Order: sequence, then C-alpha cells, then structure tokens
Amino acid sequence: MRSDPTVHDDEDLDAAVAAVRERVDVSPEVALILGSGLGQLAEAADETTVVPATDIPGYPESTVKGHDGQLVFGGLEGTRVVFVQGRVHLYEGYPVQQIAMPVRLLHTLGAERLLVTNSAGGINRTFDPGTLMFITGHLNMAFASPSVGSGAVPARRHDGAAAGRTGREPFYDPAWTSRAEQVALDLGLDARRGIYAWTLGPSYETKAEVRALAHLGADAVGMSTVPEVTQAHRLGMTVLGLSTITNPAAGLAAGALDHDEVLKVSERVRGDLMRLVQGIVRVSEG
Ligand code: HPA
Repeated sequence: MRSDPTVHDDEDLDAAVAAVRERVDVSPEVALILGSGLGQLAEAADETTVVPATDIPGYPESTVKGHDGQLVFGGLEGTRVVFVQGRVHLYEGYPVQQIAMPVRLLHTLGAERLLVTNSAGGINRTFDPGTLMFITGHLNMAFASPSVGSGAVPARRHDGAAAGRTGREPFYDPAWTSRAEQVALDLGLDARRGIYAWTLGPSYETKAEVRALAHLGADAVGMSTVPEVTQAHRLGMTVLGLSTITNPAAGLAAGALDHDEVLKVSERVRGDLMRLVQGIVRVSEG
C-alpha cells in the first residue's frame, strides 16, 4: 500500500519532466546536490538555464523564506551538470519520497551520476573541524526510505549482498570515490573516508546518541543526504558523497555546540571544497 498515492505517481513525474523540458532541452550527465555555502559554484557554470521549483509540478517547496528551490542547468568542467538549489530535509516535514523527487526527476532527464555534499558533526575523534570526508557507507538512523510505497520489495543492502533493482553495490561508487581522492591529493587536501549517520533532526544529537553512534561505527553525523542517495541507488545511478566536518559532534568537545563555529568552519573550507567538487566533476567519467 502506498503511504501517499501522489509521491510515486508517474503522471506527476511526467508533468514535472514536461515542465523542465519546456525550458531547457539539454540532458544533464551529473546532478549536484550541494550543502549550504556551495551555492556559488553554480556561478562557475557556463550557459546556465534556471528553472524555478515553483514551475515544476510536484517539486518540494522550501519552507525557508528566501531560499526558494531551483534547478540550474549548465556546463562545468566540460560536463553537462544540473545544480539542485534549495535542498529540503526530512525535519522540514516533507514525506521522504518528496525529498527524493528531484533525484527521480533528474534521472528521468538523463542524469546518471549524483554528487552530494553536506556538513556534518565529527564522531571519529581524529576528524578535526575542517576535515573533508568521502562517504563510504551510511547508517539510516532516521529509519525512513523513499522506496516505501513504491512497490519495491525488500532487497538486501549495501553489505556485499544484492541491492535494489540493479544489484549494484555499494551505495557510494568506489571507483569515482578513488578518483575523487586522487583529485583531493593533487589539490593538497587532507580528505578521509568514513561512515555517515543520518538523523532526523532538527535538533543536534544528545551526547548519549553520539556515544551510541560511535559504537555503531559512525564517523560523522548529519541530517541530510541519505534520502537522495537511497533514491539514486535504487535508480541505478552512480553516487559520490562528501561531508565537511564542521564541528565535533555533541559531547566530544568542551562546551555547547556553537552554530557560529559551524558557519566559520564552512566558510574556511569553502574555497577548497569548491575546487574539489569541480575536480570531481572533471573525473566523473571513469
Ligand atoms: N549534527 C548533525 N548535523 C550536523 C552537525 C552535527 O553535529 N554539524 C553539522 N551538521
């Protein structure tokens, strides 16, 4: 039974595809869902066409005033890309299937690759603020999936067994990740690998939760990314995930978690991260 009969309705998706196609006729190769602060990267793209989310039937509207969603189609590093701006989160109250709707739309429009970035709290004690972390696996601690209600049947997951429709493993593409690591190395950036735990939010974790997540094997914790990645994987897309560690997770440093500190760290690594994302787009094709 579907939890919401509209969210997987192919007719809705057809209308969304038609609305975009009316405005832009290129097919993107790589879709980019970038965490806050990386919006400027779209300005580095050429021949851009902007499609406002409000023009796309079924597209999730941002609840944050002044942060209306839009898709920016263009070229970056010789690759046809699309930027998803105004990403939405489960804690904003959307059904998880709607959070993943832009991924279904962009896949239908031709995108075979998805690059996702986010900011996260560091759980691994060797990950200082400012560390960049390639995501090699995740813990779904929000226990929500965009596949619910899609007619999908249980499939084994990312632990070496068969997965989703395609049987491809794991969620985060090892080959693209290795190429991206080389880009980081060439740029002189210290990037690590780790496991990302997705929590519902909007509040930061309790100290007890962070202790528990550490025991479960998480290196970082955040409130995004997993819905879009789960959807992309189910569609057979090639995925790369990258976290910026902006703070020690709750309880791992003296004092309360300071949002200003989080913003300061994001600001400090922004230039490096933008160069890295551009380089990753350049090596998106193996
Ligand atoms: N927890 C959850 N999400 C986050 C954090 C955190 O510590 N830092 C940045 N995003």
